[in-house]
Amino acid sequence: MNRRSCLAIVLAAGEGTRMHSACPKVLHAVAGRSLLAHVLTALRAAGVTRSAVVVGPDHERVAAEARATLPGAEIFVQSERRGTAHAVLAAAPAIERGADDILVIFGDTPLIQPQTLEKLRRALANDAAVAVLGFRPADPTGYGRLVTQGDALQRIVEHADATEQERTIALCNGGLMAFAGGTALSILRRIGCDNRKREFYLTDAVAVARDMNMSTAALEVTEDEVTGINTKAQLAEAETLMQQRLRQAALEAGATLVAPETIFLGADTKLAKDVVVEPYVVFGPGVMVEEGATIRSFTYLQGAHVGKNVTVGPFARLRPGARLEHHVHVGNFVEIKEAVLEAGAKVNHLAYIGDARVGADANVGAGTITCNYDGAAKHRTDIGRGAFIGSNSSLVAPVTIGDGAYVGSGSVITRNVPADALALARGQQVVKEGWASRLRGLKSLGKKKAPVTD
Ligand code: UD1
Ligand code: MG
Repeated sequence: MNRRSCLAIVLAAGEGTRMHSACPKVLHAVAGRSLLAHVLTALRAAGVTRSAVVVGPDHERVAAEARATLPGAEIFVQSERRGTAHAVLAAAPAIERGADDILVIFGDTPLIQPQTLEKLRRALANDAAVAVLGFRPADPTGYGRLVTQGDALQRIVEHADATEQERTIALCNGGLMAFAGGTALSILRRIGCDNRKREFYLTDAVAVARDMNMSTAALEVTEDEVTGINTKAQLAEAETLMQQRLRQAALEAGATLVAPETIFLGADTKLAKDVVVEPYVVFGPGVMVEEGATIRSFTYLQGAHVGKNVTVGPFARLRPGARLEHHVHVGNFVEIKEAVLEAGAKVNHLAYIGDARVGADANVGAGTITCNYDGAAKHRTDIGRGAFIGSNSSLVAPVTIGDGAYVGSGSVITRNVPADALALARGQQVVKEGWASRLRGLKSLGKKKAPVTD
């Protein structure tokens, strides 16, 4: 672990107009996690000790997301958008408090890896005052170009200000930069706005450092790491790349993904070894699946904990708060929400279990519904260990079914059922001998109306 202290400054004041969305750009999600949270998570993994997030004037939601992801994150507001160096200086108080390394990172680059950030920091440890990430995009239009002499980075020229000659340079600025803490502010405060856009360019830090006889470094990375998201199309491309990474990591950790390209993982999905995921399964945020569990096709999981050797699906939906203990079976067309299914419980077909406990080894029949909502409030259903709920029963909450009790099929249960009792709550069956043949006789005589009662 790096012993140098590190402050990261995340620039997230952009409007994101090209997303055509009411949602601030950095709050759009990739693999169920916001772009900003991806960046902050990478920072934490890279051993960053303090983080400052620079937001625009009306971006309270962005600030809230930053605080929710990294509780210690400091928020600074850039009230006017006057360029990337200006944005960094909005966080000057954080820089003044001192750090060995300072990383500047854009809030819209979700694919950045902690190792890359560590590489930038290593350049600082090797005495660079400024280090930048270079990459070679297929189309360099719009990017700053890295002007080098031999191995040495001299300056960065923005596309808008570059000469024809400079525009032929293939090595472009990825945007992320690192500064030695001791000299960062003196460099940043020397940056002017004498350029086409009249903006304070962070990229001018390189030339300023050179003028001050400090050393600079450029490190090359692949394009995907530094790709910024500006459009919905780029958001979708980032999702594709992120899914490839997550699937690869899940396979390497010992999960079996039968058709990886059809399985969508959340950034925080945890699959233990010997988990089998059949084709076409979607994991939303907050899912953990323990060893030996099988998730069958067309299942959607979110905020759920799946225990050892559990089987879920096909066509099941686990919603937040679903907790399945070991050897539970959840079958087709079953929805579970905010409910614990204790070890060995079975809910095999067509059921809704919400706000409930299903005791160990209980069997919940097809078509069972926990009626948890009365139109105003939610109520709980408690099903005891080894209980048997007959098919097509409605359990009207709040209600308790005792251990080992039976509920007859088609019951509407509104009162508690004691342990080991049988509860039947349905209309009595009426049998009228010969009724059907009398109906057929009437029909043959041309009568249209069926004899309802006799
Ligand atoms: C920047 C780099 C360019 C690099 C490219 C890589 C500069 C001057 N140029 O250009 O060399 O090739 O990224 O993608 O840095 N922001 C603020 N406040 C501002 C301006 C920007 O917070 O006043 C934030 C934006 O929200 C964004 C980031 O800084 O997250 C970069 O700004 P952007 O306008 O996208 O810079 P580029 O023109 O792409
Ligand atoms: Mg940009």
